[in-house]
Amino acid sequence: MRNYQSTSWMAAMDFPILLDPAGPLPLHRQLYRELRQAILAGRLAPGQRLPSTRALARQLEVSRSTAALGYEQLVSEGYLEAARGSGTFVPHTLPAAPPAAPRRPAPAPGPRLSRFGRRVAAEGGEDAPVPPSFYDFSPGCPSLEDFPRAPWSRLLARHARRAEPELLDYGPDPRGHGPLREAIADYLRRSRAVRCAADQVLVLSGTQQALDLALRLLVEPGETVAMEDPGYPGARRAILAHGARILPLPAGDAGLDLAPLERPGACRLAYLTPSHQFPTGSVLDLPGRLRLLAWARERGTALLEDDYDSEFRYRGRPLPAMQGLDPEAPVLYAGTFSKVLAPALHLAYLVVPPALAEVAARARRLTSREPSALEQAALADFIREGHLERHVRRMRGVYARRREALVESLLRHFGAGVTILGDAGGMHLMVRFRDGRDDAARVRRAAAAGVVLPAMARYHLGPAPPGGFILGFAGLSPARIREGVRRLAAGG
Ligand SMILES: Cc1ncc(COP(=O)(O)O)c(C=O)c1O
Repeated sequence: MRNYQSTSWMAAMDFPILLDPAGPLPLHRQLYRELRQAILAGRLAPGQRLPSTRALARQLEVSRSTAALGYEQLVSEGYLEAARGSGTFVPHTLPAAPPAAPRRPAPAPGPRLSRFGRRVAAEGGEDAPVPPSFYDFSPGCPSLEDFPRAPWSRLLARHARRAEPELLDYGPDPRGHGPLREAIADYLRRSRAVRCAADQVLVLSGTQQALDLALRLLVEPGETVAMEDPGYPGARRAILAHGARILPLPAGDAGLDLAPLERPGACRLAYLTPSHQFPTGSVLDLPGRLRLLAWARERGTALLEDDYDSEFRYRGRPLPAMQGLDPEAPVLYAGTFSKVLAPALHLAYLVVPPALAEVAARARRLTSREPSALEQAALADFIREGHLERHVRRMRGVYARRREALVESLLRHFGAGVTILGDAGGMHLMVRFRDGRDDAARVRRAAAAGVVLPAMARYHLGPAPPGGFILGFAGLSPARIREGVRRLAAGG
């Protein structure tokens, strides 16, 4: 990562240019993107002269052709003007937005949708994707540059080369590859004090599948499911699409309120993230966990514990998983490799109580196939040979430094104007700005400065208290974190 801010002409422009030689885009495309963003955000003013390609290349330590290609693209799109002999300038009029795509004719009406289909259609789907940005604080993505490529590719190649017939066939067990279930059970007993045997483990392609299976097996449409508010949108969508009602458990700045569970009326399932509440980051204390477990046992209601990122704690000892505290309570325990390794592996797991193991396996067979057996076999070796725990230990250090950079930058730029909430764990933190500014305007100003700043509103079932935002730090280097927060602060 190169970050140049101190040269004379750049001081005049007053913004750094960040180029990442290891990034997915070629350097000239990165340069094009940075300059275009600066022009659109008004950081490069109309009429402003840019340095020559030679000077720019020297300052950024890139080749002259990289600088020339970046300029040429901007000139061809009208974001820069080249005047022969006198240099390259920001034009006084920016190019118009490209014409809208011609309207497609409305599709012919499809077959009649089921109730489920109608609920899914009415729900509106995922949020619009955010444009790529160097300063994207969306939560959830681990550091992809740190993916353990060497051991992973070696283990994957080992199984691909051998191509054992059982790995190429359908596979005998709908719960997933046996050695992987053994390795997961062993890892969870050791690292999270989960009580489980391999035959309670289902290998899934994501936490969403754990939610889907739990809802299908335990909840009728019209019945009630408790979940935290604010909470995980993937859970909210699945519950509502299933036709269930939501009983919100308020997760305020002071922690989780379990009182609504005591109201009369049956609740079939409670979905919770006790070890690092998503998204506020609070941790449910031991009395809270014991109260929940007793409630579940007495009412015969299942708990779905989503332990998505608790490998990452930066202070104190992690509380063990809730599942292991009470062998009599009906707890389904979900975890994922999306955070500790990479989301694209699509590998997650669900540990079900022994009484549900058989029916869960059958439901699994009916609703989906398992993830690729070659990758499951590689992951089993990855865990058994100790690579997973080594990787987690290393990433704990990497993420602790990133979190520290974020906290420091927030305090430096916002001081008492910001409160940092949640526990020192996971891959994101929550902040509350105290200056009373409008949240939507803050998001817009951040976007104009090239920063993606997720507001709390999307995680709330009702209106969100003002000033709350989520900052994911795991996928950003400390330099990007510092620059992203500087841009936030400069954007007002
Ligand atoms: C609370 C929570 N659970 C689960 C997940 C995702 O898990 P998976 O990638 O296995 O679907 C996320 C992703 O951000 C999350 O925030």
